[in-house]
Amino acid sequence: MKTKSTNVVWHDMEITKQDREKRNGHKGVVIWMTGLSACGKSTVATELQKQLFERGCNVYILDGDNIRHGLNGDLGFSPADREENIRRIGQVAKLFAESGAIAITSFISPYRKDRDINRALLPESEFIEIFVKASLAVCEERDPKGLYKKARAGIIPEFTGISAPYEEPLNPELVIETDRLSVEESTLKITDYLLEKGIIQ
Ligand code: ADX
Repeated sequence: MKTKSTNVVWHDMEITKQDREKRNGHKGVVIWMTGLSACGKSTVATELQKQLFERGCNVYILDGDNIRHGLNGDLGFSPADREENIRRIGQVAKLFAESGAIAITSFISPYRKDRDINRALLPESEFIEIFVKASLAVCEERDPKGLYKKARAGIIPEFTGISAPYEEPLNPELVIETDRLSVEESTLKITDYLLEKGIIQ
């Protein structure tokens, strides 16, 4: 991104992230889910959000399909647009984490470089990358929105996994294999990780 904002001066705020975390009773972090369309990102994110909310956490999901209706409605699926999509979400998720919240992001985020840029925005341990893994064959069989079918028919161009790339994470904090684990098991794996790392109590 080319910076056009000049003559702007950063304001330090009196209330710190630590103050907010203390009041919330948990850390402010980004849980970054990545994976193919229909791999289960949104399903796991929804269940995780429910469980964290019930524990009293301040938690919010940023979801690809939803954000593309508003904030990122001007972006398509070219490599450059996907890069900008993920760049904006990285910045928004960072704001959520700084506000003391647990931000769960649910975007294909196909490029390793873009995910790593977002990781670098936060202190280590506050960006938790989760590879939501299901084989292309499984995702294509699920095809809840009928998009794989359209992509195979050539109706949707640049479709991830079919005619556009997906770069698997090399060192994610967690891998959730949704073709082997139930939604409950997948969610438990994440909440166990959050407890173990002291992110939630
Ligand atoms: S990303 O690649 O830029 O991270 P994002 O997660 O925001 O994608 O949006 C993916 C969703 O958009 C998919 O779940 C699917 O419903 C829809 N979609 C529409 N066209 C495409 C496409 N060409 N490739 C992938 N997903 C698409």
